[in-house]
Amino acid sequence: MAPSKHLAATVGPAGSVIVKELDVPKPGPGEILVKVVAFAQNPTDWKTAKFVNRVGAVTGTDFSGVVEEIGPDVPEGLWKVGDRVAGYVRGGLYPNGAFAEYLVASAQYGVLPVPEGWSFEDAAQLGCAAFTALQTLYQSHNFPTPLNPTTTPITLLVSGGASSVGQWVVQFAKQAGLYVIATASAKNFDLVKSLGADEVFDYKEPDAGAKIKASTKGELKYVIDTISEESSAKVVFDALGDEGGVIAALLKYPTPPRDNIKVVNSAAFDMLGKDYEIPMKHVSTPAVKERSVRFGKLLSDVLATGKVKPNPVLLLPNGLAGVQNGYQYMADGKVSAQKITYRIADTPRA
Ligand SMILES: NC(=O)c1ccc[n+]([C@@H]2O[C@H](COP(=O)([O-])OP(=O)(O)OC[C@H]3O[C@@H](n4cnc5c(N)ncnc54)[C@H](OP(=O)(O)O)[C@@H]3O)[C@@H](O)[C@H]2O)c1
Repeated sequence: MAPSKHLAATVGPAGSVIVKELDVPKPGPGEILVKVVAFAQNPTDWKTAKFVNRVGAVTGTDFSGVVEEIGPDVPEGLWKVGDRVAGYVRGGLYPNGAFAEYLVASAQYGVLPVPEGWSFEDAAQLGCAAFTALQTLYQSHNFPTPLNPTTTPITLLVSGGASSVGQWVVQFAKQAGLYVIATASAKNFDLVKSLGADEVFDYKEPDAGAKIKASTKGELKYVIDTISEESSAKVVFDALGDEGGVIAALLKYPTPPRDNIKVVNSAAFDMLGKDYEIPMKHVSTPAVKERSVRFGKLLSDVLATGKVKPNPVLLLPNGLAGVQNGYQYMADGKVSAQKITYRIADTPRA
């Protein structure tokens, strides 16, 4: 039985984070109450805290923990109290968020069992970035999956192979039989190759795009740009063949220099089974809900093969009280091939 009050990291003025005692949220229809064990940080967390700045909302997206209570109308047999669970919620906008002792999550969307042999610290990242990777691969593009690999040669450029989304994309793409080219800082070449990239190029070199174009003989058609900023788009535009292609993007993307380059966006929060309006109206149609369930199952099934590794974990101290430092670290651009992760048990108690 959950207590009535818990500690949560809330949004403070100017994107600061304040740990407060709040009421424990109640699971509504189709929801579960989760006792959080570990939580992991995504760029959306500090960006939402700072730029949307809904003071008082509970911050944080990704979590792992244990099912504490099952709300009404949850399909029979889906979860039982005590199950180990991981996933994501929309943080930074509501009285419910992931960086808290308890949270309410959808029972069906954006949630999966902690894979066999995974710690809570590793599983805490099985949320926003992992689902986003699947959206880029199987929604923006339509690639084969690791469960049904291709023998037809397909070359994919993963811009940002060391980012959190990028590390998932590289592994899934390689295990699906694609030829994977990635960009990363030189210090992360070994990591990105160990995840399956066939070639890695340093995005900081001014001719990175031209080098990729030469290496692919001007025939590159498919890109996932996990960074989706001016600098990464320049590399991508330079790398694509003259016949153009398709870029899966994650942020508002610079306009391509040629009409034959198509940009397809995706939004992670579409996978949570609810309509939402920030920054624009997104409707959770039956097709979107079906896709979310399909992606959750695919993620679970691929993880069950034991061949996919989590991002290297950077465990920060002080649990909920450490979040402010983690946000600053990420906002300063210091994250490099790491998943900032915290444990609830490390939160100092009065
Ligand atoms: N559309 C959505 O719903 C959605 C979902 C998830 C994330 N996003 C957005 O996608 C972006 C990536 O998220 P994330 O969690 O994967 O980020 P992250 O792990 O925090 O990204 C850090 C990594 O980015 C790499 N990087 C930075 N600039 C680069 C460049 N110009 N080219 C190649 N790599 C570069 C760095 O690589 P090195 O260390 O090798 O330098 C670093 O390891 C963020 O802007 C996030 O807000 C959007």
